[in-house]
Amino acid sequence: MSKDIYILNGPNLNLLGQREPDVYGKSTLKDIESLCTAHARQGGQKIIFRQTNSEGELVDWTQEAATHGSALIINAGAYTHTSIALRDALAAVKVPIIEVHLSNIFAREDFRHQSHVSPFATGIICGLGAQGYVRAIDALFELMGVVPNADQQTK
Ligand code: DQA
Repeated sequence: MSKDIYILNGPNLNLLGQREPDVYGKSTLKDIESLCTAHARQGGQKIIFRQTNSEGELVDWTQEAATHGSALIINAGAYTHTSIALRDALAAVKVPIIEVHLSNIFAREDFRHQSHVSPFATGIICGLGAQGYVRAIDALFELMGVVPNADQQTK
């Protein structure tokens, strides 16, 4: 059975669309999930797309992605900057990790410049809004040697 790409989202990202749209854009998380599902399908890949406000749940899902996923795309929200538990979970992930942020965290407050995710990420995409998730899937296609095709069906 082929493995799926895990796309995990951390706290407050359930509020996308309403939350500081000038910073995070107007797309809702549902919009982003639809974009990702459609884009992954072009490479014959399926995604598991989730959001939680709970640090423990994000750790549990990261562990799950390590075992059951082909790759992990993660926007850990504020836990990016604070969570040693998430850092330790990511350290055990052997599949490729792409870190995504909607906003450019380096152009914002100093406390956002530190990431506990980045040391384990193959690549980091930030500041591109919802399109960052799509670019992250493209990066995984490249890493997996997948050639996307608009007519492709998911397995
Ligand atoms: C974020 C950036 C974080 O600093 C912030 O806490 C978020 C969202 C982003 O996607 O830009 O919740 O991860």
